[in-house]
Formats: sequence, structure tokens, C-alpha cells
Amino acid sequence: MPVDIEKIETRLFINNEFVNSVSGKTFPSVNPATEEVICQVQEADSADVDVAVASARKAFSLGSPWREMNASGRRDLMLKLASLLERDRVYLEELEALDNGKPVAAHGKSYGTHVDLNLVLQCFRYYAGHADKIEGKTIPIDGKFLSMTLHEPIGVVGQIIPWNFPLLMFAWKICPALATGCTVVLKTSEKTPLTALHACKLIKEAGFPPGVVNVLSGFGPTAGKAIALHMDIDKVAFTGSTKVGHLIQQYSAESNLKRVTLELGGKSPMLVFDDADLDQAADAAHVGLFLNQGQCCCAGSRLFVQDTIYDAFVEKCIERAKKIKVGPQFDESTTQGPQVDKIQFDTVMRYLAKGKEEGATVKVGGDRHGDKGYYVQPTIFTDVTDEMVIAKEEIFGPVMSILKFSTVEEVIERANKTMYGLGAGVCTRDVGRALRLAKSIRAGTVWINSYDVFDCAQPFGGFKQSGIGRELGEYGLFNYIEVKTVVIPIDK
Ligand code: NAI
Ligand code: MG
Repeated sequence: MPVDIEKIETRLFINNEFVNSVSGKTFPSVNPATEEVICQVQEADSADVDVAVASARKAFSLGSPWREMNASGRRDLMLKLASLLERDRVYLEELEALDNGKPVAAHGKSYGTHVDLNLVLQCFRYYAGHADKIEGKTIPIDGKFLSMTLHEPIGVVGQIIPWNFPLLMFAWKICPALATGCTVVLKTSEKTPLTALHACKLIKEAGFPPGVVNVLSGFGPTAGKAIALHMDIDKVAFTGSTKVGHLIQQYSAESNLKRVTLELGGKSPMLVFDDADLDQAADAAHVGLFLNQGQCCCAGSRLFVQDTIYDAFVEKCIERAKKIKVGPQFDESTTQGPQVDKIQFDTVMRYLAKGKEEGATVKVGGDRHGDKGYYVQPTIFTDVTDEMVIAKEEIFGPVMSILKFSTVEEVIERANKTMYGLGAGVCTRDVGRALRLAKSIRAGTVWINSYDVFDCAQPFGGFKQSGIGRELGEYGLFNYIEVKTVVIPIDK
């Protein structure tokens, strides 16, 4: 085992110190490939949230080192942190693989924790570049006045992240908060608490003032709820299930109307027309579904294929799915690791049973892989219809569902018939049709002849019940800014 288990940091990170939880309680983090406990982690609940929020509030107070710091100082700290993350990237890649189950894949591959780290570093450097370019406006109002807007940090922000991209979601959340000058109380997922704690060591080493970033390990209904209900948190950013997204919105209403941004689930359509480059489309559909063990919020989990090419295209999908190498995360040939934990594994197994029961045809897989570890066979269902549960609910596993369509009008209507609107894919060589589809589909991102092309410079987020607000890019900064208008009379 490459990671030295004895040396893993397992405490909470508050005010730049690693501390035990107030209750002294711990919970296990598990390696999903072996089902064995990696280590016991300190468990935060509402008492720890209170301590962390007090520390973040103090760090945000007027006159504090963080509030006094030049914007260029924040930029430089973020760049320093990026360098430290890069220095430790191999350790982080291995620790992430151990805790989450995703494969460690060498340089040049398009999957695995190496890719996650590339995106993490890009995110820190991108938002470091924004830190000293957050500018308001001057506004020509009537009368002899100068009117201007200041873009001020929103304050203490609560952030709750999931387990599918643990360190990347940590970066997506803290980077815009740090760039704008906010302070942070972040809760990791109980399924994957480990890599963020190592990043905290680096936050301290980089020289961030105490209290700017506080990180808690713990569960949703205790620590997560306490963050979302807290009266001294100004904004909450959440990524996870739509069900919990509803709760977060409710907690805000029940407490102090803290600002809410949500990044939730999806049932994203991928549309393949008969004039597409079928190999390019099959590659996109494959990545769009099977990436990250199928555990992606934007997974293209409703694959609509035009009837004229349906059979030929299904064959291409089968060919690709059969090449997936399921195995432990540290085996170099592995392209698909285990699902993150038993709960997720059981959920995916239930959907496999449901799909069979409802009459979908299993073309590949359809069962668990092996008898130890939370492995699921890469699966393809054909003859899927819109009413089936597997075509409506988020499976969050390596399960491709292929549906058939005939006309453009029909597929637009069916693609939009969902409560979600996170991602979509359109494969066609007809530019006009591609643009028409891009306009017609109600989703936050539409990939044409591709899927899952991520870059932290472009915004990401959902229409409808896939979320509120956009993360990444310049748009992502606005979640962390309050606009203040300042008016000054000019001498007559
Ligand atoms: P979840 O929504 O329960 O967990 C996400 C985060 O929210 C975790 O940090 C969790 O501790 C926290 N949380 C849970 N209940 C909370 C509450 N009452 N108050 C505050 N925070 C709370 O998602 P879970 O159980 O990990 O996965 C269930 C399903 O959610 C998945 O099968 C998948 O369909 C979806 N999901 C979507 C994600 C996305 O990227 N949009 C990420 C993870 C899960
Ligand atoms: Mg784990």
C-alpha cells in the first residue's frame, strides 16, 4: 500500500490547528476496494460547527490580517498553495484513490486521480488570477454625484461537498471564496474525508491566517445541517443530491436567509443523430456515462440514439464497455474502480434489478463484479423507455441506458421531460441542427460532439432542480460577492 496509513491526518482543522472533536467521537473511513477500514476520523457535530464558525467570523472581522490583506496578497497565497499541492500531488492522488476507490492513472490518461489533480491545480491558479481583478463599476447617475459599486466578500461561507470528486469539489468551493476574500467552514463527505485534511496542512504551510479555512469531517444530518442552519453563516454552497438540496434551501429559510447555491443531481440526455461521426459519438457517450465509475452529477445517463443507426451504435457502445478493466485502484491497468461505498453499491444494484424487472434488455454486465469490494460490472441496457425508473432517476453508477428516437422534435421534447437540467450532449455533423439543439435543451452545459469537457474557466451548474447558481469561471465569483453602492456628491 503506497500511503502510510499511520501518518494520515484524521483530526478536524479549525483556526489553523488540527483538533479532536468536542464530543471525542470518531467514524471510520473505508477503502471500497477491500471493504476494510482505513482509519478512524474525528467526527464533527454542531458543537464543532460553532467553534469553526467563530474562528471564521474572527478571521473575517474588520482589521483582521485577512481583511487587511491586499488582493495581490490573496493571489500570492493561493499560488503558493497551488505549488504545495503540486509538490504533494502524488501523495494526494494515492490518498484520494484509497479513500474513494477511483483508479490512480498515470500521466496522459483521461481518467483517474491524476486528472483530478490537474483540475485542482488549474482551479487554484485560475482563481488566484481573479483575486486582484475583482472590480466594481462607476455608474453615471443623474445629478452631481459619483456613484460606484464595490464588490465585497459576502462573509463567512458554509460549504458542503460530496464524495465523487472529493479534492476537486474542495477546490471548486474554496477557490472562489478565497479569491473574493471570504472565510470558510467546509464539511467534507463522510465517505471521503481524507484528502481535504492533507490540503489543510498545506493551507497552514502556505501561510493563510488562522480561521480563513476551517474543515470538518462529519455527517449530513448533524454537522451539515448545523452549517446550513447557522445564524452566523452568510452563505451556503452545497453539492450533492437534489433531496438534500431541498433541505438546504429550507434550512436557510428557517434560519437567517443565508444565500444558497446548489449543485445537484441530473439525468442528462445524450443525443446521437444518424449523421454524426459515430465513433466520435460513441467515445463521447462512453466517457459521458462511465467516467468516474458512473458517479458524475452530469453523467449522460439517457442515451437517445436515432432509429436509423440504433443497432450499429449499440454495437459500438458494447465494444467500448467490454474494454473497461474493473479492478482495484492501485492496479495500473484498472480503468474502473469500485463504487464509493456499500450504500452506493446497494443503490446501483437495486437499479440493475429494477431495469431487468421493467423489461430493459441487458446487453453487457448487469451484476456485481467479483464477491469482495463494491465493484459493479459496466452495464448497458437497451430497449429502455421514458417511463422506466432507470430512465428517470439518477443511478450514479456504471449503467448506460439506451433509448431510441426518430425525429428532432420528438427527441427535444423527450430530452427536456425531466425535473433535471444539468448537462446534455448532442452528436451531429449538421452545425445548424447542433445550434438548434443547444438552444432547445434546458441544461446548464451542452456539449456538442463531445462530453465532460471540463475547464475551470467555464461556468457549470444546473437549470431546474439540478441547482441554483453557477460555479467556476468568472460567474462563480458572484456567489461570493455582495454588491455595495457608494454615492458621493461632487463639489459644485
Ligand atoms: P448527499 O446529498 O446525502 O450528500 C452530499 C453531502 O451533503 C455530504 O457532505 C453529506 O454529508 C451532506 N448532507 C447529507 N444530508 C445533509 C443534511 N440534511 N444537511 C446538510 N448536509 C447534508 O448525497 P449521498 O448520500 O452521498 O449520495 C446520494 C445520491 O446523491 C447519489 O446516489 C447521487 O445520486 C447524488 N449525488 C450527487 C452528487 C453531485 O455531484 N451532484 C454528488 C453526490 C451524490
Ligand atoms: Mg472512503
